[in-house]
Amino acid sequence: MTVKRLGILTGGGDCAGLNAVIRAVTKCASWQYGMQVIGIRDGFAGLIGKPRTVNITTSMVKGLLSRGGTILGSSNKANPFAHREMVKGKLIESDHSDEVIQNLKELEIDCLLIVGGDGTNVIGLQFFKRGVNVIGIPKTIDNDLAATDITFGFDTAVNVVMEAIDRLQTTAESHHRVMLIETMGRNAGWIALQAGLAAGADVILIPEIPFTVEKVVAAIKERQAAGRMFTIISMAEGAKPRDGDVVIKQIIKDSAETIRLGGISQLLANQLENAGAGECRATILGHIQRGGAPTAFDRNLCTRLGTEAVHAAARGEFGKMVVIQETKIQTVDIAEAVRQIRLVDPQGEWVRVARDTGVSFGDE
Ligand code: F6P
Repeated sequence: MTVKRLGILTGGGDCAGLNAVIRAVTKCASWQYGMQVIGIRDGFAGLIGKPRTVNITTSMVKGLLSRGGTILGSSNKANPFAHREMVKGKLIESDHSDEVIQNLKELEIDCLLIVGGDGTNVIGLQFFKRGVNVIGIPKTIDNDLAATDITFGFDTAVNVVMEAIDRLQTTAESHHRVMLIETMGRNAGWIALQAGLAAGADVILIPEIPFTVEKVVAAIKERQAAGRMFTIISMAEGAKPRDGDVVIKQIIKDSAETIRLGGISQLLANQLENAGAGECRATILGHIQRGGAPTAFDRNLCTRLGTEAVHAAARGEFGKMVVIQETKIQTVDIAEAVRQIRLVDPQGEWVRVARDTGVSFGDE
């Protein structure tokens, strides 16, 4: 079939680079193929009930390369197959998938580009199985999609965290303190690990390598004994002690992923102070990691993935996700791409390099 009208939506948590993808898709679709681009508002939420859409023209995407967020809006609550709503204090779940398929037909969308993480692409796959032509474009600051070497948004988040650690280091030095920096990443430690390594953190705590308070205290005391009176700890929100569990910040009942992590850094800061590690301060970086202008790496990745998604649509390669593997942009089956998430390998190169340069993971 010839794709004449291309739909695009951005789903899940936002990140830097979503607008850059919208720009690349619109330019390539219009100029290379004469396709019309229909933007869907707020992820799948824009296809539930009366569709909320906008025709995206090339003149509308001017200046989008560097702009954070998504002009289309996003939602990490809208799963049309199990749509959750709080009605009069009660959680109601219902299936709106037929409605979405009908809306896509009425909008005459020949192919839907789904820009999202794991959750959004699983929904995309369900629609593909129901006959909708979909193509996935992977994003998430967590970098936890197995099918792609890197997701866009991650590099920007790592740079934000690195810069934050650089700034906190001066206070750590001036006040002879232990500074704990808590990053996002859900159950994956990529941001804490790569930003920590880039900023020269002394201790890195990630979900994949459970820590003990004793080992972290030992690492701090070893530094103090050597005259280094401050310590930088880069830790993931999902980091957990060997004999304990993650710290849950919030439960969001009507969200597809109900648990929000956060707060482990303050808890550990208190434990370290009680154990005599010296004065500690925790900083939770939160959504700062998702905002702002994308790095050059992310901008170019977005342009490469966005244009390839349009070419894949023109070739009729539906049910695929565009990914980067060993520096090459390619397509893989969405079914394959969402099969497993990618966590840090405790025996892998990243951890080894960190250990080789004296980083403690609080485990040995
Ligand atoms: O998946 C992206 C992410 O930013 C996670 O790193 C974080 O745990 C979560 O989303 C935060 O979600 P919300 O924006 O709903 O607070």
